[in-house]
Amino acid sequence: MTKKMDDGPLRDELILHPIEKRILLFLTKSGPASFAAIAEKTALDEGAVAKAAQWLALKNLVKVEENITDKKVELGYEGKIYAEKGLPERRLVDFLEKIGGEAELSDIRASGILSEDEIRIGVIWAKKNGWIEIIRKGDEAVLELKKYPKERTEEEIVLQLLKAGQRSLASLGPYASACERLSKRPNIVKITEEVIHVVSPTDMAIRMGDELLSAIEEVSQLTPELISSGKWREVAFSRYNLSAPVKPTYSARLHPLTMLIDMVKETFVEMGFEEVRGPLVELAFWNFDALFQPQDHPAREMHDTFYLANPSKGIPPAKFVDSVRRTHEDGGDTGSKGWGYKWSIEEASKLVLRTHTTATTIRYLSEHNEPPVRVFTVDRVYRNEKVDWKHLAELHQIEGILMDRSVSLRHLMGIIKEFYMRLGISNVRFRPSYFPYTEPSAEVEVLLGENNKWTELGGMGIFRPEVTRPLGVKYPVLAWGLGLERLAMAVFNLKDIRELYRNDLSWIRSVPINFSKVASRRRD
Ligand code: PHE
Repeated sequence: MTKKMDDGPLRDELILHPIEKRILLFLTKSGPASFAAIAEKTALDEGAVAKAAQWLALKNLVKVEENITDKKVELGYEGKIYAEKGLPERRLVDFLEKIGGEAELSDIRASGILSEDEIRIGVIWAKKNGWIEIIRKGDEAVLELKKYPKERTEEEIVLQLLKAGQRSLASLGPYASACERLSKRPNIVKITEEVIHVVSPTDMAIRMGDELLSAIEEVSQLTPELISSGKWREVAFSRYNLSAPVKPTYSARLHPLTMLIDMVKETFVEMGFEEVRGPLVELAFWNFDALFQPQDHPAREMHDTFYLANPSKGIPPAKFVDSVRRTHEDGGDTGSKGWGYKWSIEEASKLVLRTHTTATTIRYLSEHNEPPVRVFTVDRVYRNEKVDWKHLAELHQIEGILMDRSVSLRHLMGIIKEFYMRLGISNVRFRPSYFPYTEPSAEVEVLLGENNKWTELGGMGIFRPEVTRPLGVKYPVLAWGLGLERLAMAVFNLKDIRELYRNDLSWIRSVPINFSKVASRRRD
């Protein structure tokens, strides 16, 4: 606070607000103290102390310093799991010890005591710690126990100490550095710094001593009493200080993901597309068959797709059943040979939780085959996936189609580039790919995140005649399906995708309302 108040009070005398006076008297008696300590001792609100301290600093009566004194630690997402089950490297060497000191990687996998990710992490750390060695025997990797850690490690002690909840780093005493080592590993412990403001009286304030008591009273509000009593003549009125730091207040707001969804929807609307919605519970017919995915396609199996138990079946649209059947069996009128198998209406009647929003756009297309069609949807899809830091079983896709007389792959690339550009992401590239329903097909990759990594965000392509003809569509249809959560991870700089759905208030509050500007600033 260096700005001088040149339009300041007319009088030269010392002017103090009663709150300022109270704080000064406390400080000159007891010495430097933090906002929180002053608030406690003077029975004032911490925000009021902060404000008054800034004014006092302006009057050269106190000095306010920022100290980072306190670091708080708490268990992260994985940390909570490890505190219960043990670190992956511990569980790995425990297993090796139990079975005689040696195991093939495939045995460890088969044992099921560690997930695929945990095996990877466990091997890295057990090796780093000198506990194991990896030997190649032919095609197999064999893990050999070199040194079994009988005692708990410092890291393990830290996990136990943090199990009871958040505490200060300093309170971990000799284990503080082990805690800092753990914080370098993703999602185990979270260390947050706390800034403390310390206020100390200046020499001038100390010299003034009792003089402080006779300061002219500053008031912040003109009341009827001040006017009628004439006391307004004696007091000084405080002025506004718009740059004084205050405690943040958190008003109601939308969840960051909702804000991002709105932004994505607005972007497509600005680009001339209309929003459509479709059912979450979908016929396999629309989710797969209409998209020319053969009935024995691996994606249709139980372990990728959630099938409904009750009701388990619906009725595929009679209007399209025959043309779709023939396309699968021998290509029908599409010029294709089809897949050459016997198509089953039973299979197409099954109800699934939609695995992609392409089910929604194809449904729409079947009822709207006059050009032009320009629609999008941003909605939920479900996949039978094991949830981890980068996978969710319930997620959102940004889907769209454009059908018109003479559109081509160039237009499709243009649309996708333009979309990301409008979100502030200017590096987009396409790689040839495969989907049963598009030809050509491509993967969309964008340059994202703090460390500028090419990240796969979805797929696109032009619907094959095997998809469009059976629905009576005569013109090319450009189609795309992009991931929302991966984009969100980059925009909000998250290391764990589950964070988006944890409803951790401190995270939700910490995302700036104008994050879109934050996202686009990163590009420069
Ligand atoms: N449906 C595909 C997916 O879920 C994405 C996609 C949509 C690909 C449209 C091509 C065309 O990954």
